[in-house]
Amino acid sequence: MLKLQSIYLALGLLAHGVFAIDDGTASTPPMGWNPYNAFSCSTTEAMYKNAAQRLVNLGLSNLGYRYVNLDCGWQGKARNSSGGFTWDTGKIPNGIPALASYIHSLGLKFGVYSDGGVYSCDDQGGNGHYLGSLGHEASDAASFASWGADYLKYDNCFAGAHMPIFPARTNESRLIELFSLLVSGTDFVDYNPPFNTEDHMTAMRDALAATKRPIVFSICEWGVQDPARWPASSVGHSWRMSNDIGPPASWDNLFRIINQLVPITQFAQRGGWNDLDMLEVGNNGLTAAEQQTHFAFWAAAKSPLIISTDLTNPSSQTLSILSNTRIIGLNQDSLGRSISFKRRYTNDHDVWAGPLADGSTVAIVINWQNSARTLTFDLTDVGFKSANAVDLITGSSLGTLSGTYSASVAAHGSLVLKLTNGVASPARTFTSYAAGSASLSGGANTRVVNSTTVVGFVGNGGTLTFNNVDGGSAGGTKLLSFDYINADFTMGNTACSNCRNAYVSVNGGTAVQAQMPISAQNWNVVFSGYLLSMSGFKPGKVNTVTISNPSGYAPDFVKMGVAV
Ligand SMILES: *[C@@H]1O[C@H](CO)[C@@H](O)[C@H](O)[C@H]1NC(C)=O
Ligand SMILES: *[C@@H]1O[C@H](CO)[C@@H](O)[C@H](O)[C@H]1NC(C)=O
Ligand SMILES: *[C@@H]1O[C@H](CO)[C@@H](O)[C@H](O)[C@H]1NC(C)=O
Repeated sequence: MLKLQSIYLALGLLAHGVFAIDDGTASTPPMGWNPYNAFSCSTTEAMYKNAAQRLVNLGLSNLGYRYVNLDCGWQGKARNSSGGFTWDTGKIPNGIPALASYIHSLGLKFGVYSDGGVYSCDDQGGNGHYLGSLGHEASDAASFASWGADYLKYDNCFAGAHMPIFPARTNESRLIELFSLLVSGTDFVDYNPPFNTEDHMTAMRDALAATKRPIVFSICEWGVQDPARWPASSVGHSWRMSNDIGPPASWDNLFRIINQLVPITQFAQRGGWNDLDMLEVGNNGLTAAEQQTHFAFWAAAKSPLIISTDLTNPSSQTLSILSNTRIIGLNQDSLGRSISFKRRYTNDHDVWAGPLADGSTVAIVINWQNSARTLTFDLTDVGFKSANAVDLITGSSLGTLSGTYSASVAAHGSLVLKLTNGVASPARTFTSYAAGSASLSGGANTRVVNSTTVVGFVGNGGTLTFNNVDGGSAGGTKLLSFDYINADFTMGNTACSNCRNAYVSVNGGTAVQAQMPISAQNWNVVFSGYLLSMSGFKPGKVNTVTISNPSGYAPDFVKMGVAV
């Protein structure tokens, strides 16, 4: 395994992204427990031991939750006289190696937490000044390995400037003081860091590899430099692709993260996973239905499933969500492919789906409405005319579904269906209209990417109108398909976090809102095939389709297709 790890690392470097680090430590997404969402940085040895015991006693470890991971606050604030990493002896009185042994004695795995900065993240606005590992990667990785670490979560606070290399036995407390003067306040958390986060992560990857101990490397730069596209799969086993999910948890955080995942689902593969952040199941801020949607979506997106709630006395509802073996099975499926975005019915429902190892398909349909209602899932949105279905939340067989399936779904609840023996729906063909040939008004203008004309500044008065659009022999309702670019990614919650609204109107009729997720984090990469059904077409090549946005910018457009 160790040898394989080095070979894969070397290949990953050479091929830059063709190979994930599938060294056997994270062939399927890691599962475990971390205190942060429930306890922030206030954790103690007793709390970690309790969580480990509870994982075992509640049967969770048998379901795959094996890692007990440290998060911020365990560390010391100064290195020891030989420059070694230290722990807070008040919080961890028996020391980290003893804690690791205890966790291992329960048959579990032990994770440490550090940071690719001069200090780590903390819950005191940057004043905690816990040790980070920047500039100390080799010695810290060696320490972590010697303590028995099986996992490292590597954060990104105070990473804004490079630590000078310490000469041996220098007065480090003084150097850290000097250095902290160089670190500006924003460097505690910098969402636009003036350096490549990949460099910090690669330094730690190499340091971990040099220890020869298999250690899951969990990259946590919050998605600020689009790690999926470095690609982070050649650097670590998982990479956070978004800002924190909490605390506090909220439905808006889930919407933000789900939108941000849309353009990168294809990067998840055996040994390398999009990390949607730790679970909020069991915590305040989400309803039971929201927690269920959150858990199933995270599982099917192949995110690491890291429980982050107090396991002392969890509710039966929390346990039943976390213990659903059918949903866990989606996460641990050996094919290792994420669900991907199929279709959004704005403010109504999303359809996502992906393949499983046994040839079946998992479909997740999220109810965006704020109330319980009957939701209708159109099987053609995942490519089927009909299929046999099992409801993976309840385990009940739904028999053969044809065309559509309607079920009552709670507010923000979801359908999670396993589809087998699917009969493919007919392939769709589209007549294509280039945005570069459309009429523009207001501030809308063109630019060229890869020799393709792209229309930007649509919205805020700018409009784009496709003319002479063919309504076919009958007109009526047509399925439209948009190729667009939207790199307007965000760390915070807005009415459309990590998405932009386009308002689409046919022949001057009522505009329909399309809430289009980001296509990447740069303004070159296209999202292809955002579907929108629109009525009001007349027969023949006489129609106009206009895109606008009265109160913001829409994405940039490449082309529109009209289903024939
Ligand atoms: C300093 O810390 C390192 C890492 O924990 C440890 O291996 C080393 O023994 C410590 N040295 C002293 C002098 O305490
Ligand atoms: C480190 O250097 C500073 C300034 O030169 C001095 O004030 C401090 O006492 C020194 N600390 C140690 C631990 O030697
Ligand atoms: C330009 O090429 C890149 C790389 O193939 C691709 O990802 C992107 O979507 C292309 N953009 C356009 C506008 O064609």
